[in-house]
Amino acid sequence: MTKLHVILCGSAGGRARAVLERSGIVGLRLSAARDSYDLPGIDPTDPPDMLIANGYYSEDPIFKNWRRRRSTTLQVIWIVKKRDARPRSEGDGEGIVLPESDLAALPYMVEFALREKGRPATDASERSAKPDEGPVRRIVGRSRAIQKVIASARKVLNVNSSVLVLGESGTGKELVASMVHRESARLNKPFVKVNCAAIPETLLESELFGIERRIATGVDRRIGKFEQAHGGTIFLDEIGDMTLFTQAKILRILQEKEFERVGGTESIRVDARIIAATNKDLSVEIAAGRFRSDLFYRLNVINIRIPPLRERREDIPDLVRHFVDTYSRENSLPRKKVPDDIMNVLMQYEWPGNVRELENAVERAVVIGDEDQIRRHDLPATILNALNLAPESPENPDSFNTRVADFERSLLIDALERCNWVQARAARKLGMSERSMWHLFKKYNLEELKAEGRGRRRGRRQNPMQERGTL
Ligand SMILES: Nc1ncnc2c1ncn2[C@@H]1O[C@H](COP(=O)(O)OP(=O)(O)OP(=O)(O)O)[C@@H](O)[C@H]1O
Ligand SMILES: [Mg+2]
Repeated sequence: MTKLHVILCGSAGGRARAVLERSGIVGLRLSAARDSYDLPGIDPTDPPDMLIANGYYSEDPIFKNWRRRRSTTLQVIWIVKKRDARPRSEGDGEGIVLPESDLAALPYMVEFALREKGRPATDASERSAKPDEGPVRRIVGRSRAIQKVIASARKVLNVNSSVLVLGESGTGKELVASMVHRESARLNKPFVKVNCAAIPETLLESELFGIERRIATGVDRRIGKFEQAHGGTIFLDEIGDMTLFTQAKILRILQEKEFERVGGTESIRVDARIIAATNKDLSVEIAAGRFRSDLFYRLNVINIRIPPLRERREDIPDLVRHFVDTYSRENSLPRKKVPDDIMNVLMQYEWPGNVRELENAVERAVVIGDEDQIRRHDLPATILNALNLAPESPENPDSFNTRVADFERSLLIDALERCNWVQARAARKLGMSERSMWHLFKKYNLEELKAEGRGRRRGRRQNPMQERGTL
């Protein structure tokens, strides 16, 4: 994919660079300009896709002129000091305005722009795409509680009312939402997921409703999430964390069932089934004035509550076997046995992170364990500590397994040292996936060594400065 060329202007550009570099987004090429007067000096054969600058440069004629000549598809993000800053003259309001206090949302906006760049913005392609559909996953569990959840979901497959899925984090809300879509008559249409908490307010309307082409700013026409979901299902996730502004927008579309694209005049009607989810207790949110009760009643036509895993422990053995199968297959590993004592440990634990926590624990045990069965020391320390269990009797120091483990650990430390403890780099060096590196890093408890190793390096780097008396 071609990289997104971003020009960072002036002081806001400097701060933006720091945020973008920390975010680890790939696919960006960053260059800097002192201010808008510096822009004409930038290589004219290498036009930028995006400009990030202090608001509002567009006042100055050099910038206007430059933008007209150089690039018609330039996206501009203005960083403004105050949340309520207003453009100074007409035409300045083009582009996205981001208050300095929301700078953390910048990577999201840039990713959004990257996605836009990588895909043609025509209705046909948008509609046939199924952007958020991953591999099909089965709902596992034989408890009455989970069977009741499945039965309630099946009852509402082909009605059009909104469904609200409730449950603690990691209980399987998204899984249930996707099942309702998959088993409904809408299955061949898109299932579009919107993380309501993550969209910055400045992008909300264009993200949800789309935007009309605007010649002045070079913004291309974009189809919003609601339109993408036409004929299918729109999954509004994390609705308990939406700002009141977002809630008002969502409520409007639920009431009126039609909307206009940003900058457009045509009313668009969509037929999209709405499924919403949250791990928050909405009655508490409503009482605290953080959630609109009118929106709650709209969404809560049908509600499905998934109980936490600790209230349906009889699901644990099936889930464990299911995840052992899945991750052995995914990593081409032989299928490990789960001895009774391990199953007992897993049955006793409280699972505050619910099925997601169990899934991660099993995946880790499948990948790092080096025997044909899962052992206690393959389980995360959080589980053993919570149950006051020791990681198991010390290994015989001369056994084959211990010696292989010692060798493995020293290989890792060596590679990590050479790569300044950047795990991704060390993984590449050793020809393994970042995921395996992550698991091994945890298995050998390398966190402390990493802190020490980095500290040593910093110390070494500072010495020459001290000699020169600059510190
Ligand atoms: N009953 C189940 N059978 C199989 N897998 C499950 C089950 N419940 C949850 N999972 C798996 O657990 C993980 C977490 O589920 P999911 O993302 O649906 O949870 P969630 O309730 O949406 O969590 P959050 O509130 O944190 O977003 C997923 O990988 C999902 O496939
Ligand atoms: Mg979820």
